[in-house]
Amino acid sequence: MQTMDEMELPFLPLDLPEFCADPTPFVEAARRQHPWLAKFAAGYLVHGYQAHKDLLVQDENLQPGLGGIVEYYGLQGTHWARFMQEMVVGQSGPTHARLRASVAQAFTPRRANNARPLMRQVITALLDEWAPKGAFDFAVFAADFPVAVICGLLGVSAATIPDIRHALALQITSLTLDPARTSEFLAGHDQLWAFTDRMVREREGSDEDGLLDALIAAQTAGQIDATELRFMIMVLLVAGYDTSKNLLTLTINMLIDRPEMWARCAVEKDYCARVIEEMLRHSTIATFYRSVVREFTYDGVKFTKGTLLVFATPLAGRDPAAYHAPLTFDPDREHTNRHIAFGRGAHICLGMFIARAQLEEGLHLITQRLTQPHRTGAVGWRKFLPAWGLRELPIAFTPQIVAIPSGAAHTSNDARLAPDKIGQILCPETQPLNVNGI
Ligand code: HEM
Repeated sequence: MQTMDEMELPFLPLDLPEFCADPTPFVEAARRQHPWLAKFAAGYLVHGYQAHKDLLVQDENLQPGLGGIVEYYGLQGTHWARFMQEMVVGQSGPTHARLRASVAQAFTPRRANNARPLMRQVITALLDEWAPKGAFDFAVFAADFPVAVICGLLGVSAATIPDIRHALALQITSLTLDPARTSEFLAGHDQLWAFTDRMVREREGSDEDGLLDALIAAQTAGQIDATELRFMIMVLLVAGYDTSKNLLTLTINMLIDRPEMWARCAVEKDYCARVIEEMLRHSTIATFYRSVVREFTYDGVKFTKGTLLVFATPLAGRDPAAYHAPLTFDPDREHTNRHIAFGRGAHICLGMFIARAQLEEGLHLITQRLTQPHRTGAVGWRKFLPAWGLRELPIAFTPQIVAIPSGAAHTSNDARLAPDKIGQILCPETQPLNVNGI
């Protein structure tokens, strides 16, 4: 059996603008050469649905490849390297289980549902500010929503959101595998660390009861240490930011061409849930890394120890071996195969119930408040790694003033963003983030 290095594998040009705008023709050609594996500039990429399902549970063979990313950049020994290797996403086995257990209770489906009033408040406040404009870049509009929700869950003021957003946008560039971005992501990491450290210090000893306080209590109980506490908060901010914002922007882009679906989302929240699930299959956004920690074989391929693998969920959702007519966007399709947009195995997305709830609530209110939407210019695509999506989505629409649904009152103890802080989310001076085309 051949090792992956010896095989004639197709090459995918992940950085090519044409690939980022539409990877499908490239992947269709690649599939003719190999059904689920390809090369790219910095390693190997898994794109088949079944290979995702089978490989992501092989913890004994594959572990989060974040140490490999540190080596790729030659940044061993930096504080950023410590973050990459010691935070929950970079860990395996008992340490990973311990870190995950320290926050798991805050991410159950029930907790996500309890946070729905908070989500509705946040999106309503944003719409009150932005909808009267009649036109804006939806990608910019969408950027504040997930950060505000996470701040609300943590129980911290949203006043610093513009600063955090910038730090988040910089920090995430580390996963593009582009060495030219090193100084940007190191700066973003330092900003985010300083922000998180200040937030924890200000909160220690208080009698509040948000997620932040639960994490501080986990530290007091000896479950996590002071650095792990700060890294966990940083991960929650990073993991929940680009993902939800990009998925929401892609959803709006999809529905602009499907006015009947747009109108149905405005009246049926259950239908919004179907639309979001189909988006998570058809056009999801996350790619993530694993390192081969020992040689093994799978489906005729011998994996070499030390190899860096990228798992590409946006491509797995369009695998014709897994889905009938995979390029057709059909929220009413029978899901004979569940999508794997949230990953699989030990690292499956911790925030998936939060993500689903905020995307559903957001879509429902956005489609009510922005009617007759259309694009006013060309869309701009982000790099495929690590969080695909739209960089710009300029739209115009007819604004609607809609009464806040009765369930939107702030009723839950879990929804920690006080109404007076919602106003601080709104940043009329917000400028599009332009982090070198990411
Ligand atoms: C559409 C939205 C989202 C998508 C598509 C998404 C996707 C993913 C994927 C694919 C993974 C697995 C990564 C791996 O196996 O290495 C993951 C992990 C994770 N996600 Fe999400 N995510 C989303 C939203 C969120 C949100 C809103 C949060 C937090 C509030 C969050 C927190 C996390 C965390 C903490 C992990 C790491 C879990 C671990 O390593 O055990 N995600 N996400």
